[in-house]
Amino acid sequence: MKDRNIVLIGFMGTGKTTVGRIVADRLKWAFVDTDARIEKEQGAEVSQLFERHGECYFRDLETKTLRKVLESERQVIATGGGAVLAEANRHAMQEGGFVIALQADFSAIIQRVGGNTSRPLLKGNLEQQVSSLLEQRKHAYDFADMIIDTSNKPVSYIADRILNERKALLD
Ligand code: S3P
Repeated sequence: MKDRNIVLIGFMGTGKTTVGRIVADRLKWAFVDTDARIEKEQGAEVSQLFERHGECYFRDLETKTLRKVLESERQVIATGGGAVLAEANRHAMQEGGFVIALQADFSAIIQRVGGNTSRPLLKGNLEQQVSSLLEQRKHAYDFADMIIDTSNKPVSYIADRILNERKALLD
């Protein structure tokens, strides 16, 4: 079960997409970003979906997309930062693969997400939004099989750690 997929979870700006692409490349697996999949299928950006239909509508699409993606295997899956909030999603992730939480400190997150206006939950005062969401979600990623801090670490180092841990888990 755990060898079916690698599922990356973590707060916005922790590096799920960047790291995920590299790990997928090294394993010669497919890379799937659930937000990108939703955008493609809906023909609209995540921020537009939030604006037009509200967050609940997006969360529903997120759950459906995740469930569908997890039916396949040999994929590295980068999930949206809030995908872990629904218990059904956490369960599906644990059933569908090796779940890795990426985390980063406040300043690394601010640096990575600053200047990017695509995240609807970070509209307004960026530092205040990040700090309040980090507080609300401080235990949301604890269910992962492995937790890696990505602050000030080269992406290749993080990818190596993931591949080594996965190997150790499967040996
Ligand atoms: C969200 C994170 C975003 C995206 C949406 C909501 C969240 O994905 O799914 O804006 O609730 O944390 P990233 O974590 O890839 O930025």
